[in-house]
Amino acid sequence: MKVVVIGGSGHIGTYLVPRLVEGGHEVTNVTRGLREPYQPHDAWKRVRLIRIDRQKEEAGRRFGESIKALEPDVVMDLICFKPESARPLVEALRGQIRHYICCGTTWIHGPSVLVPTREEECRNPFGEYGIQKAALENYLLEEAQAKGFPATLLHPGHIVGKGWLPISPVGNRDPLIFSRLAKGEEVEMPNLGMETLHHVHADDVAQAFVKAMSFWGNAVGESFHVVSPQALTMRGYAETVASWFGREARLKFVPFEQWRKGVDPEQADMTWDHIARSPNYSIAKARRLLDYQPRYGSLQAIHESITWLMEKGLLAVDG
Ligand SMILES: NC(=O)c1ccc[n+]([C@@H]2O[C@H](COP(=O)([O-])OP(=O)(O)OC[C@H]3O[C@@H](n4cnc5c(N)ncnc54)[C@H](OP(=O)(O)O)[C@@H]3O)[C@@H](O)[C@H]2O)c1
Repeated sequence: MKVVVIGGSGHIGTYLVPRLVEGGHEVTNVTRGLREPYQPHDAWKRVRLIRIDRQKEEAGRRFGESIKALEPDVVMDLICFKPESARPLVEALRGQIRHYICCGTTWIHGPSVLVPTREEECRNPFGEYGIQKAALENYLLEEAQAKGFPATLLHPGHIVGKGWLPISPVGNRDPLIFSRLAKGEEVEMPNLGMETLHHVHADDVAQAFVKAMSFWGNAVGESFHVVSPQALTMRGYAETVASWFGREARLKFVPFEQWRKGVDPEQADMTWDHIARSPNYSIAKARRLLDYQPRYGSLQAIHESITWLMEKGLLAVDG
């Protein structure tokens, strides 16, 4: 297949593009050419890079035609955030491609009723990002189911991989949380630490994209959660990280509004975004229809990422 990946040199693309090349596909990566993938791989030598700034092309109403000119069989769109960004692609590519696989997010869901949350549950998104992604999903599924446009949406959780910091046990990106747990220092946790996080390894997200393409008949017109097999409680996550360093976690539980007073406001907002959703998603549908078989549990994925960060000296821990 001629596969065009839009935004293929980031978290997902680092794993997805080599998988596609190794699968024998002819891959074009569309980016601004500013970033390198997180991990080197020989496969990148066989990837065509097309430098396009999506925002600029969308403003000039050229983006759809620019992608069509690449004559793709399949488009994997990793950086679409609202229906208005998908529409020019749908209009330009209708009748021209076999599959358009778009990256969503599990934040199409707000607070859940039943967990693990399934794709068909009522959405209740909140926050601009989740609301726009839910609207994007509605738009693409309508185009697929009513008008035959071959769209699929894949919704990752918190993406983890070698090269960047995972969402921490307090639901933000403060690296000091890992350091404190590693040193056996006290860590304040919001509430009772029983709210949840749901990570996924970037290579498992990549697997889902490849499998969606393989199981075309099951994938078109559908959306799928792409997360690890089980969500994590924040408390259990903290205790497990401490145990990796031979420590017993010293956790202090503080009501969220009190907890946030001692935290950088941006990190506190990020924690709120996580605990207010307490993600816990089902992958039964992806397992059944796409043969999605995540290689990593949440803790395995995080362990790999933390080990890599320590090996590179990017995470300050004792010993
Ligand atoms: N990260 C998470 O935990 C998470 C969780 C759930 C869902 N998601 C979804 O995952 C998708 C993002 O995937 P990712 O995390 O792999 O992305 P990423 O790491 O942010 O990488 C973004 C990619 O897009 C390119 N890019 C950025 N701006 C561009 C522009 N204006 N024009 C063309 N290319 C551009 C970047 O390369 P250049 O900078 O070189 O252009 C890079 O290749 C989004 O749809 C997001 O909603 C992410």
